[in-house]
Amino acid sequence: MREIAFGKDLAGKRVLVTAGPTRESIDPVRFITNRSTGKMGYAVARAAAYRGARVTLVTGPVNLKPPMFVDVVPVESAREMFEAVTLRSGEMDMIVKSAAVADYRPGTVGEEKIKKSDGDMSIALERTDDILGWLGSHRREGQILCGFSMETQNMLENSAAKLEKKHADMIVANNLKVSGAGFGTDTNVVTFITKDGAEELPILTKDEVAHRLLDRLLKLRR
Ligand code: CTP
Ligand code: CA
Repeated sequence: MREIAFGKDLAGKRVLVTAGPTRESIDPVRFITNRSTGKMGYAVARAAAYRGARVTLVTGPVNLKPPMFVDVVPVESAREMFEAVTLRSGEMDMIVKSAAVADYRPGTVGEEKIKKSDGDMSIALERTDDILGWLGSHRREGQILCGFSMETQNMLENSAAKLEKKHADMIVANNLKVSGAGFGTDTNVVTFITKDGAEELPILTKDEVAHRLLDRLLKLRR
């Protein structure tokens, strides 16, 4: 079995992983979401648990089996994810933010189903809280913070800017335009961006990416 192949190099460490999309309600029937399937985040949670960590997985709505030996906290909206993460972040040694958090939500949520009219309609959206940004400015001593970045253009520049702006230790950059990468696939093509520069990985399974990511984060510590 896979876990036998790995040393328990995260034994005793507390790791929080976020995964999946968020859902932002418009009314009782409808919501805004994105194409995240949660596979990458679930792979990270599973890999960290195999390696001996005490793992908390804060997950948006996905169709995946929760990994064994992981504390699963289901949430829906960006607001709920913010609350679930910030409530627990103070005790974590490592936080990996793979979730695709909505940047905007409807400013008001209809209590009743919105009925259609003959004309067009528009929905006013307001900003959600940036969870990774909050974590970067409320970090506990020695805590390792890893974000993801999904880009369709200028991947390296945009991701390096996120590293700086959110005060993260690493950004795992995904180029959505590369085949074998992105939403719903079992493989991924990522670049690790740290203050030391960019390291591009070959196409790997999401499980392999998860282990490489944890290897890299553990190296940061030293
Ligand atoms: N993120 C977050 N809270 C948000 C939005 C994003 O914690 N409200 C986190 C994501 O989980 C990810 C990282 O920030 O780890 C980068 O997300 P991404 O969507 O690529 O970047 P944004 O900063 O939201 O910028 P943009 O979508 O405009 O590229
Ligand atoms: Ca975003």
